This record gives sequence, C-alpha cells and structure tokens, in this order.
Amino acid sequence: MFGKLISYEKHNYSIKLNYEKKPIFVDVISDKAVRFYEERESKSFAVEAYELSSDFSIKFDTKLVIETKEIKIVISDEFKVIIYDLMGNEILSDCDLKASKDDQNVDSDLLALEGHKSHDGEEYKFLITKKLHNDECFFGLGDKTGFLNKREYEYIMWNTDDPAPQVDCFKSLYKSIPFFIGHHDKISYGVFLDNTYKSVFNMGTEDDVFYFGSVGGTIDYYFFYGPQMKDVMTEYTNITGRYPLPQIWTLGNQQSRWSYANKEAVDEIVDGYQKNNIPLDVIHLDIDYMEDYKVFTHSEEKFPDMKNYIATLAEKGIKVVCIIDPGVKALEGYNVYDEGIKNNYFATLDGEVYHNAVWPGDSVFPAFTSNRVQSWWANNTKYLTELGVRGIWNDMNEPASFKGPLPNDVVFSSEDKDYLHEEVHNVYGHLMAKATYEGLAKTNKRPYIITRACYAGSQKYTTAWTGDNHSIWAHLQMAPVQLCNLGLSGMPFVGTDVGGFGSHCTKELMARWVMVGAFSPLFRNHSAMGTKYQEPWQFDQELTDIYRKYVELRYQLIPYYYDLFRLHEQTGYPVMRPVVFNYENDEVTYNLNDEFMVGDNILVSPVVVQGERKKLVYLPNDKWYSHETKELVEAGYSIASAKLDECPIYVKGGSIIPKYEKSMHIANNIDKLILDVYPGDGEYTHYVDDKETFSYQQGEYSLYFFKKVNEELTIELIKDDYKKLYKEFEIHYQNKIIKAKASNKLTIKL
Ligand code: GLC
Repeated sequence: MFGKLISYEKHNYSIKLNYEKKPIFVDVISDKAVRFYEERESKSFAVEAYELSSDFSIKFDTKLVIETKEIKIVISDEFKVIIYDLMGNEILSDCDLKASKDDQNVDSDLLALEGHKSHDGEEYKFLITKKLHNDECFFGLGDKTGFLNKREYEYIMWNTDDPAPQVDCFKSLYKSIPFFIGHHDKISYGVFLDNTYKSVFNMGTEDDVFYFGSVGGTIDYYFFYGPQMKDVMTEYTNITGRYPLPQIWTLGNQQSRWSYANKEAVDEIVDGYQKNNIPLDVIHLDIDYMEDYKVFTHSEEKFPDMKNYIATLAEKGIKVVCIIDPGVKALEGYNVYDEGIKNNYFATLDGEVYHNAVWPGDSVFPAFTSNRVQSWWANNTKYLTELGVRGIWNDMNEPASFKGPLPNDVVFSSEDKDYLHEEVHNVYGHLMAKATYEGLAKTNKRPYIITRACYAGSQKYTTAWTGDNHSIWAHLQMAPVQLCNLGLSGMPFVGTDVGGFGSHCTKELMARWVMVGAFSPLFRNHSAMGTKYQEPWQFDQELTDIYRKYVELRYQLIPYYYDLFRLHEQTGYPVMRPVVFNYENDEVTYNLNDEFMVGDNILVSPVVVQGERKKLVYLPNDKWYSHETKELVEAGYSIASAKLDECPIYVKGGSIIPKYEKSMHIANNIDKLILDVYPGDGEYTHYVDDKETFSYQQGEYSLYFFKKVNEELTIELIKDDYKKLYKEFEIHYQNKIIKAKASNKLTIKL
C-alpha cells in the first residue's frame, strides 16, 4: 500500500514521510500523543485544533526514529510503526493480518437459509493490524454491548437504532466512538481512529493480532501513551475535548416515560414524588408534548398555557426537559419545514430533498453538516427555552428512519463540501448536539443536552444515555460496564434508562437498578409506552422505600459528583469508572464487571442477578470501610450482605467526602456542608461556584482544601472568588458528629 520509505521532510514540526506510493504525515502533539495520517479528504469532526510539540528528535537511515521525552517511534517500509517506552518496552506494533481462519470452509448460502450471516461482508479500504500481547485487555470503544474487557470481541462503528434486546454479539449500538485503551505488561495506551465511515474494531478474535480499519476515508489515528490509564484519558480529551461543568440540578433524579402526554399526567408524577417524599429535579417530556410530532411546537390542547405551566413546575422545584428529534415533518405551512425548504437546509438525493419516515410520518433531515443549518437549529431551540424548558433531549439522531436506512449517497451539504451519508452518518448525532448546544448556550446557562447518537468528541456538547434497553437482568448487568466504557471513551455524563425501557420491569429488578442508577452520572428512570409504569410507587411500599433510600443518598453525594465533574473538566477522568481505572496493576480488576467506582473514593458493588441476597465483593489492595456501618472491610474477596434494600458500598480509608443534607431538590446555594471522614490520612479539594452560568470560566469560584492527618482535620479556604460560601461544616467521623462555624481556616480535633 505504501512501499519503501524514501525520505522525510519537516514542515513546522509536522513530519512528512515520503513513501514510494503515497506519503504519511506524523504530528508529535505532546511527549505522549502522536498522530499518524494520510492527507484527509475532509476536516475532522472530533478534533478542532491542537498545537504541535517541538520537543522531539528525529533520526533517519532506512527507518525513521522519532523520540520524545516519553516514547520512541520507529517507522519503516510499508508504514510499519513500532512504539516503545523509553525503557525499551514495546507498546504497540504493526504486523501483518493473516488470512482469517473464520472465513475458511464457510457455506454462506447454507447459513443464510436460517437467516445466519457468516461475515459482515464489508470491503475495508484499510486495516491496521497490531500485535496482541498475551495479557492485553481493551477498554472503551464507546457504547458497546457485553463486558468490560473488549478483548476477543469484534465491533462495528455504525450508529444503529435496533431496539431488540441488545446482547453480547451485537456489534453496534447508537454511538460510534472509535477510541480504545489497551493495557498490557502494566502499561496503558490509547488509540483513536478519527474516521467517521463505517469501521471495524476487531480486538483479537484471530489469535495474536487485533485490527481496526474503515470502509472509506483515510488513515488517521492517534496514539496516546500512559503509562497509566489516567494519562491516556488526559491526552485523549486534550485532543477531543471535555465535558464542561453542568448545571448542578442536572445531577438530580429525573423521571421520564414515553409519554407523560399531558399536563394532568405530569402533575400526577410530580405529586407522586412529593407524596412519597422522594427527591426529584427533572421531568422529561417525550414526543407527545408536540403537535403531531412536529419539532419546535407544542400541543396547546395537552399543555395549555405551557409557559405558565412550566413556571408553576419550576416553583415546585421541577425543571422540564423536552425531546427533539431531527426528522422534520414534511408539511407545507409548518414553519420549520417551510424555512428549511426555502433555504435548502435539508439533505438531498439526486438533487431533490430526501424523504424518509420517522414519528411525524413523512420527514426530511436537516443537514447539520452546514454552519447555516447549525445556526438555524440553534435559533429554533428558542421556541423551547422561551417556554422555560431547561434542557433538550436529542433522540433518533443516528439518524433513525422507519422506511429503511438512508442510502449511502444521500447528500448533506456544507459550506466547504457536499458530504455523503456514508461519511457523516456517524457524526449526525454529534452535529445535532453541537447545534443544540449553540442554541442553549444563548440562555447564558450551561447547556443540558442528552443524546442517543454520538461520535468521539461529543462530550464537548452533550450528555448521553444508552438508548432503548430492556427491563431484563442482562441489561442491568450490562449497565455499569456500558457506562464505565463510555467514561473511558471521554463521555463522563452518561446513564441508562433506569428500570429498563422496553419490557415490563419487576419490583426486584427495579430495586437493583436504582442502586446502579443512583450512582450513574445521568440518573433517569424512563420506560416505553405499553410497558408497566415504572415510577417508584407503581410497585409497592417496600420498593418505594428502597428507591427513596438511594435517591436520598445520591442527593447527599451531589457535591462529591460536582467535584468529579470539575475534575473531569481539568483532566478528562471519568466520573463513574471501572475499578481498573484506579487499580490498573491489579489483574482481577481487568474483568470486574459488576463493580464500579465513583471517583477515587467510593466503590459500589451492586447485585445484578435476580434472587441474590449476598454479594461476592472484590476490594483492591487498600483500606476500605463500609459506607453503611463504617466498619473496616478486608481487601480481596469477601461476601457482603445484600438484602433487597442493601447495596454494598465502600469508601477508601482517609476519604473526606463532601455531602449535602437530605433535600427534595438541588439548590444552588447551600449553607451547610457535611464532611464524611474515614480513618486514615487524606486530603481533598472541594469546588464551589454558582452552579449554573459560565462565570466560573472567568475565575468566579472558590476552593476549599480539606486535610486529615492523624486525628486532626483542617479546613482551609484556598480561593474565594465565589462569595456565597458555606456558613457551617458538620464533620461525621466514626459515629461522632462535630459541628463547626465556617471560617477561612479551621482545625478540628476528631
Ligand atoms: C426512542 C427513544 C426512546 C423514546 C422513544 C419515543 O425509542 O430511544 O427513549 O421514548 O423513541 O420518543
């Protein structure tokens, strides 16, 4: 494909390798991040800009050797790349793809008789094949089915709306994030293939290699060196961006259903939460709030005087989020359609506006590839924000279509290029989220968007949920790993439909799901039309009490979550993480599917199997305390009690966890901060701002530094540019409660 390496040139620190057949470019971005690419046919949708490093050396004879302060890259004929750390450990190396054994002796016609497929049948334009190390594990890859470790599985990046119960052999779901973390020999690294066409990631189904490649576009991949996973996340999100701090109420409990179709239905839910004393911050309105499923409309019949109604809900502490799909009803006289037609905003096929069907029936699709369309869509969001709607839920943006998939050659035009669907399918949701972000940012509040489809870098604009799961135990088992791998793919604000979307949820499943949901960054209960109603009180009193217990715990932990979002914005670390992210030298964690961590301090080991009342818990080598009893628990395997209302939760020794008092809604200003302190020495930085606007980006925030040494805790205000500070601290330590009036520096004997 490339031939012999003949020479190289350097242009402003970008390196061009002249091969016999075609050139390859190499950009050294940092000591740990390098990009390898062919000249692109179109711009990247994930990466906006980066600076080049100048701090590396180059040697060339028959091979080109680049050395940074952390890695050595050897590139030879046929664009073969080997990357070493400076101790000489081989981290990632190219090798040849052997003929697939799986494809030999296959009678495809016979298989097809019963509807089986032998192969995805794709012709890949390029496949990059790497050596698989004996102990290698893979994490990330966006939103995929199955378990935490992706080794020996194959996935396809092609945003797919398939509501059938998604199981391990599904190769694609709604999102395509072509990024993974590899870990072998105690070294972590990352690879990001920045290619939006349908692509394959085969993580070692064939012996000693793994490979990735795409049906179109060009080779363009980044390598990120660790050696820790934390470093990989920082490097990857330096390139693709991070989730900006959310408004704090978005961390609260959210209730949804397809659909609360009128004001009375919504009132019933809000009352239900109030009567049952369960905290709630958000109600989601699914497609039925619209008039005939026309986006940027509402049904005056179902929601009379909607602006006033939303204001009444706001007084009760409830925010409204509305769904918006990309499919615009093709109907003359409907302003969104008419404007789009007049200005050529919709995708076309053979020069005509392309039609397919979604909820509104005959529908057309905005070409979000165009800046003009982006701005138009952003302006349309005003319809909702002027009604008082506080967030937008973007759905069906794979894009989903009811009359068969969009043909590959549907055209999405832009100012610089006409894109074909095959190139921009995987970024359609990403671009829709970007436009929505632009619209919501005009309110001067931090935008809250939830998307179903996305691509690498979508974290700059949006949160995500995992789409149409089912109320089945297999999907509860999948939930923590799905969310953890999304976190390791750069998306920190993610959640599943708590209780499951399709199928009827049982009481026991709901009890166990809320234990995962209450710790998921995005905490929303949602279910489909025709399934059992899933609000907590629809089961029985016991379940209502269990649900309340975990929602209350979530509300107490809100300041801890908010701090983790702040940490994400600074480092790219996920909020909810697999245990391996914090303990990557512990091999047990590589395949630990039914436990996860929130930040560095809290480990949750939920029950995900029907009937279990004991849980086999694994705690990595550290000091751990039960969150419930505060007792020390030995590291390693142990069996925890897990009655229907119990979820084993552990806190690391030396932790200082900031908590709020129980409350029914999340407030922006709080007078009292609780510090839940655990034996051992430790420190913690706590962040405070207005929790709503962008003024923190101008430095309007305060920082507290907590430090525990022996039996003494110091609380120090180390930055005070946000003025509404705490008035009181309450320290909880080993069954003692110590109250202290706030001041700039406090020392407390525990
Ligand atoms: C899709 C969404 C689901 C939503 C439904 C109706 O199936 O994934 O969450 O409720 O459409 O809008």
